[in-house]
Amino acid sequence: MNNKNILLGITSSIAAYKIYELIRLYKKNNFNVKVVVSNNALNFVSPLVLETLTNEKVYCNQFEPRVEVEHIGLVDWADIFVIAPISANTISKCAQGFADNLLTSIFCAFLGSKKPVFLAPAMNKDMYNNPIIKENILKLKNMGCDFIDCETGFLACGTQGVGRLADIELIYQKTKRLIYQNKANNNKKVLISVGGTKEKIDSVRYISNYSSGKMGIAIADWAYNLGYDVAIVSTIDFKRNYPILKVDSAIEMLEELSNQKFDYLIMAAAVGDFRVEDVSEYKISKENIGDCFELKLVKNPDIVKTIAKNKKENQKIIGFCLADKELINCAQNKLIDKNLDYIVANDVKTALNTDKNKVTIIEKSGRIINIDLDFKDNIAKKILEVVCD
Ligand SMILES: Cc1cc2nc3c(=O)[nH]c(=O)nc-3n(C[C@H](O)[C@H](O)[C@H](O)COP(=O)(O)O)c2cc1C
Repeated sequence: MNNKNILLGITSSIAAYKIYELIRLYKKNNFNVKVVVSNNALNFVSPLVLETLTNEKVYCNQFEPRVEVEHIGLVDWADIFVIAPISANTISKCAQGFADNLLTSIFCAFLGSKKPVFLAPAMNKDMYNNPIIKENILKLKNMGCDFIDCETGFLACGTQGVGRLADIELIYQKTKRLIYQNKANNNKKVLISVGGTKEKIDSVRYISNYSSGKMGIAIADWAYNLGYDVAIVSTIDFKRNYPILKVDSAIEMLEELSNQKFDYLIMAAAVGDFRVEDVSEYKISKENIGDCFELKLVKNPDIVKTIAKNKKENQKIIGFCLADKELINCAQNKLIDKNLDYIVANDVKTALNTDKNKVTIIEKSGRIINIDLDFKDNIAKKILEVVCD
């Protein structure tokens, strides 16, 4: 149990059906969830399903006989109030301070309590573009509510445009950041390299490695949760609330990383040491070669060493070392040779393409911190606790 309490409001947008999946994500990750619905939302979601998913009663009626005043009790209970989806109607009522049902009464009290409020709108594109709705969204933002923007795409009303509820995974990720963030980290930039580089052989083939990128992604996600300004340079493409700069080769990765500002650079990518000297513009055909085919490989630049040469005083650079023998020796040598602040040593046997890992962090001063076998998600948080102060 992480003992964090999420109060989830649901209003009557057609996107409400997607919220079952959001509740599943919250519950799977051990958040306590209670749901409050607007009366109209009951046209779109079933209390039975919500109660089964949350194992809690669903709150709706403000005037139900009770032992406690719910709109105050629920505010006290919750660490965050998420309204997803929030309709145009409820946005406008919230912006004006209306408290005409249980959900808007809770909002009214929540905003006064200074705890985080997170709103995920969903509506038809013309409603979203309505200047009154835009103004009300801006008003709520200025009052400290966090929003996740609507997506553009196919809408339930049959049109194309902006107004779709944001991706459920992104709503989940942003909820975590709003719960866990330390606002002092908001202006500190963590730059992370992720994934195994791909070195082209010809127009269709490449040389790579077994890196899944899981460790780097877990570090990036935790850096985001903790409130850092995160960007990643990655050979893997996926959806997140932070920028993902996509590259393939080691040289592309070096170029992209060199263009970025950072306070902390965490080199979690598995960078290929070599690349093919002459990349064929066309697919190499086996018809044109004999039984043996030789590729000449040349050394790639050492990315972290190159960047560390121009390191500014306030910047920290964290490298990774992967080896199957003499791991700690190897890591210590790299730490010194590459001018790093920390190095994270991990064993080939536990690190590659797995969900769990165990690592040893070595600091420039010589201090050694061992982190026992654990899920990469937990290891990532512990690494950040050590290397980012
Ligand atoms: C089928 C249907 C779909 C709707 N979808 C949306 C929507 O996506 N977003 C929205 O703001 N309103 C939508 N509405 C309109 C709201 O349901 C309506 O404004 C309602 O009064 C909002 O009540 P509430 O904010 O108390 O839940 C929809 C209405 C219907 C009948």
